[in-house]
Amino acid sequence: MCGIIGILGDHQAAPIMVDALRRLEYRGYDSAGIATVQDGVLDRRRAVGKLVNLADLLVEQPLRGRAGIGHTRWATHGGPSVANAHPHRAGRVAVVHNGIIENFRELRATLDGPWESETDTETIVRLCESYLDQGMPPKEAAFTTVDRLEGAYALCFLFEGEDDLLIAARAGSPLAIGHGAGEMFVGSDAIALGPLTDRLTYLEEGDRAVVTRSGVEIFDAQGGQVQREMRRVRVDAARIEKAGHKHFMAKEIHEQPQTLKDVLDAYLDDGRIAPPATFDWTGIDRLTIVACGTAHIAATVAKYWFEKIARLPVECDIASEFRYRDPVIAPGTAVMVISQSGETADTLAALRHAQGQARTLAVVNVAESSIAREAEVAFPILAGVEIGVASTKAFVNQLAVLLMLAVRAGLDRGAATAGTEAEWVAKLTALPGLVSQALAVEDRCEALAHRLAEATDILFLGRGPMYPLAHEGALKLKEISYIHAEAYASGELKHGPIALVDRTLPVVVLAPTDALFDKTVSNMQEVMAREGQVLLVTDAEGARRASHGVWEMLVMPTVDPVLAPILYAVPAQLLAYHTAVHKGTDVDQPRNLAKSVTVE
Ligand code: F6R
Repeated sequence: MCGIIGILGDHQAAPIMVDALRRLEYRGYDSAGIATVQDGVLDRRRAVGKLVNLADLLVEQPLRGRAGIGHTRWATHGGPSVANAHPHRAGRVAVVHNGIIENFRELRATLDGPWESETDTETIVRLCESYLDQGMPPKEAAFTTVDRLEGAYALCFLFEGEDDLLIAARAGSPLAIGHGAGEMFVGSDAIALGPLTDRLTYLEEGDRAVVTRSGVEIFDAQGGQVQREMRRVRVDAARIEKAGHKHFMAKEIHEQPQTLKDVLDAYLDDGRIAPPATFDWTGIDRLTIVACGTAHIAATVAKYWFEKIARLPVECDIASEFRYRDPVIAPGTAVMVISQSGETADTLAALRHAQGQARTLAVVNVAESSIAREAEVAFPILAGVEIGVASTKAFVNQLAVLLMLAVRAGLDRGAATAGTEAEWVAKLTALPGLVSQALAVEDRCEALAHRLAEATDILFLGRGPMYPLAHEGALKLKEISYIHAEAYASGELKHGPIALVDRTLPVVVLAPTDALFDKTVSNMQEVMAREGQVLLVTDAEGARRASHGVWEMLVMPTVDPVLAPILYAVPAQLLAYHTAVHKGTDVDQPRNLAKSVTVE
């Protein structure tokens, strides 16, 4: 959410910053802006909408200077407008901000108007300028400002008259300092800094950094100077290109056989499930899994697996509920959080809430993220950089890791009832090939998309672990095609939602042939009897048994039903993707959304 870049460089900063913002655009794309200092003079350019508008503006009105800050915005306070775009400026100071300042109204009341914007961020620059007016030097003015802020923020300050100074601060939102050769950088994530440097220092909670071309000094919230480790973080450039695909989402869907193989290679060793991090499940009596959005859907699939395979009771919770619900965390509970970005504010808060009360585990994609660093044990999903706002390959890899952990838990607890370790390893090893085969339904999904695109509502049905997957199908469709979609457990249909069924309603039924297949077919018949248009996603056996009367079918490779959610994620993604493409929506950057939700 909101991307930040800061540069103290050797070259003109503006083009480098625009390039960095292009890589960060997935974090927010309502507006963008940059500010630079040239010969001591602070100036800025801002534009509403996609980054290209800022790039065009810079062609007409270039900005010179080797020191600068840049921002791509996801609106919180105040809609997308030039006035609300960052960098915000007051007199001699400009700032870019990711997060929310909760006490901004109280702070505003202490400062004189008029105000240029509706943002909380303008309060920061106005406050800082007031301290400069009192004669404080930039560092002291910025630190004193930060002391007064409540909420979540990653900040980068730039000052008039200072060609060699950036001040950065972090509370709640991630921020990294990049070390170059005679150059220094600030970025909201490693992707921003990837081509500039691979030597990063991540700020810790409450840290403030004084950055000059000769290095960085870091201070904690109490003002004491601290040392933070510098690490090498390589971002594979190829992973942040579309590689011939029309959208990142398409590329990421097609990468899944490989990314799945990558994670299996890291977790499977010589016929054994050997995760790269260790956790002993023997003393654990129950598991609470907490996450948001698609990651929460992965949690609800995992509930079926942990209960079936490891006989471990599981409760799943939405992070924004868990953190405020005052949940009872009984002795013997492990709390697991799942997050692609590792920075989702609610999930991070849930993790912190659980710490001290339970063993904590994280299933996370970004290895350097706050969640990966703060959890007691972090299991990487190794999906690589995910740029498309709609999560795809991260979901599939989350599922793979969760299944392997469920089996590991079953083995540790002596309860792995649904097969031996070797059998699980064989089934898992076959998965990338099956996912590759599943991609063959793409043409059919594309052909069906024009019909789905006409619908105003779509239902997704499933039973067992396909029920949460129905939620994933509905969520993917909603977020990128803007068509209203809902998911129900097939057996729940006649308890209300069947009232929606008529000839205009497509109903996607996710049903591999499993022990409950006939029951799902009965539910499907109930839909068809009311002229609902059933799109059945099943395997060859299911197609043979249940094709009569359905509107359309997608035939999937045959797979053990336990593993089916991993495979059936592919048609769920492809249906959403092609429907969105057909509707002409902005697939990678759907309206109102942003990747990495670092505000609550
Ligand atoms: C949906 C999607 C979101 C995220 C959610 C959690 O396609 O991507 O629902 O899953 O915002 O994000 P992470 O996993 O980064 O915590």
